[in-house]
Amino acid sequence: MTENILIAVAWPYANAEIHVGNLTGSHLPGDIAARYHRLKGNKVLMITGTDSHGTPVTMSADKLGKPVEEVYKSYHEGFIELFQQIGITYDLFTTTHSENHFKVSQTIFLALEKNGFLFKKTEPQWFSPGLKRFLPDRYIEGTCYICNTEGARSDQCDTCGNVLDPTKLINPKSKVEGDTSSPELRDTEHYFIDLSKLEPDVKKYLQDRSSYMRDTVIGESLRKVEAEGLKPRAITRDLDWGIPVPVSEAGWETKKLYVWFEAVIGYLSAPIEWAQISGQKDAWRDWWTNPKAKQYHFIGKDNIFFHTSLWPAELMGVGSAFMEIFAGEEIPLILPYDVPANQFMNLEGKKISGSRNWAVWGRDALTRFDPDALRYYLTVNMPESKDSDWDWAEFVARNNNELVATWGNLANRVLAFCYKNWDGHVPSLEDMGGAETAPLRDADIELLKTIENGFNTVGTELEAVRLRSALGEAMKLATVVNQYLDVNAPWSAIKVDKAEAGKTIYTALKAIDSLKVMFAPFLPFTCEKLHGFFNYETPLFGEQYTETVKDSLGEHTVLRYKPVEGLQWKPSELQPGKKLNQPGPLFKKLENEVIDVERGRLGK
Ligand code: MF3
Ligand code: ZN
Repeated sequence: MTENILIAVAWPYANAEIHVGNLTGSHLPGDIAARYHRLKGNKVLMITGTDSHGTPVTMSADKLGKPVEEVYKSYHEGFIELFQQIGITYDLFTTTHSENHFKVSQTIFLALEKNGFLFKKTEPQWFSPGLKRFLPDRYIEGTCYICNTEGARSDQCDTCGNVLDPTKLINPKSKVEGDTSSPELRDTEHYFIDLSKLEPDVKKYLQDRSSYMRDTVIGESLRKVEAEGLKPRAITRDLDWGIPVPVSEAGWETKKLYVWFEAVIGYLSAPIEWAQISGQKDAWRDWWTNPKAKQYHFIGKDNIFFHTSLWPAELMGVGSAFMEIFAGEEIPLILPYDVPANQFMNLEGKKISGSRNWAVWGRDALTRFDPDALRYYLTVNMPESKDSDWDWAEFVARNNNELVATWGNLANRVLAFCYKNWDGHVPSLEDMGGAETAPLRDADIELLKTIENGFNTVGTELEAVRLRSALGEAMKLATVVNQYLDVNAPWSAIKVDKAEAGKTIYTALKAIDSLKVMFAPFLPFTCEKLHGFFNYETPLFGEQYTETVKDSLGEHTVLRYKPVEGLQWKPSELQPGKKLNQPGPLFKKLENEVIDVERGRLGK
């Protein structure tokens, strides 16, 4: 049965380049899941885009002294380039700065208002007399009133991990103006979403999912809601850059929707945009109004609250009112199925920091390393249950000892040996001693059974988003094939009995052809290449391409993906005698010098 799977990845802020921590945190696991489900023949929609509004973006534009629009666009283009190079196959990678996203966000706002979940309230907010404007919470830093650490942002303390009441910050300073600034609290009116009314629903939503959601995610959400409850949250801000609040009364022109309120709405607006530009206006509904569809949110641990509490609460508050306003039909939207959030990846034992250049940047790393080498290390080291560490010595060792030695050499030496000795073909039945005699021996059949079973074991792990373990299972199977080759040694057997060697090579090729599919979600570039050596007509994966979308806000580039139809997640049916293509190596061994060179680049 084919399933509709929405792979929703956290929207990257347009204020910094993407580094390995971001990749392993959300984009890469999302892509692995998307590719797996596509191979299974499921209908996948993988979406996200640039989180173009909000303080982080205006802050970096301020610093650069450039218009926000220009700054967001240059990061956006960079993201798209990176995702093409490392193969993050978004069906749509768009931006929150689009007419469609504005409209969908404003409709959600109106639906919440219609259902009575919004109220207005005047509250004190930090105002900078020097800059003559209200300062968003992130512009204010001071001492955390919970853990007493200095340098806490007024809305969130990264040390104790708590969301803060910005007005309670001790010794507040404006980040723009620095130590001498004296921000003051002034009254301003805002819209609030009454999360307290939705608290029982959010609790039940999380309880219903607690049997399969990651423990770290339940800990940060259900247990937190149970302990602290949910309080109303402001969903508008005093800002120029962003989505206008859809009310006509005077005074709201200078305010915008809060970036977190609207960015999560991108999970709905992006599928709608995807459907529009694909020329199937209603196609998004297959992932949004179809109760059987499954939505997965790939995010980092700092985003858990927004995805497990705020976003479901918005959706529950909206009920069927969104579709009523948007399409004149009262249909409820579905709720996310799982939020497999990752912890953080550190770098050489220290927290990744863009500003201190303690980072391995995606696009930069790709100028020196192949995408699958990076994807491999980022997967075996994915911070699924606890923080992990990118270590250059380990990167080199695991590339050489696992990727190259166990898997790459296996595929390469069997294919090359076969190509050379069987004249560019898989051994035919005749080559294996004729159709009358059973071509395969017990050990061959046993190996192929073991490999076939891998589609279940690797598949189960992928299904449950345990990606490290899934890749580990596939690698174990590669080891089993290596052991089989050690025992049957076709390289020497060929001199004595070519038919026997032919059986071994046919069996090993078939196993490798199957492993290729199991490795494909993780190592798509090299598996596609290997697929080409096997001379198949349809590729494993489709193509990524860009398009320009024009709307009333101007134009934006989007990244897209053209999928390949058909189920490929199944054991190889490699036919004896099949013509092969000239094989070549899949991976590169890395020299030990790499370690020092790369370490030398850090912190500069
Ligand atoms: N831009 C945020 C970050 O990088 C994530 C936003 S996820 C969204 O942390 F759902 F809100 F869009
Ligand atoms: Zn704190």
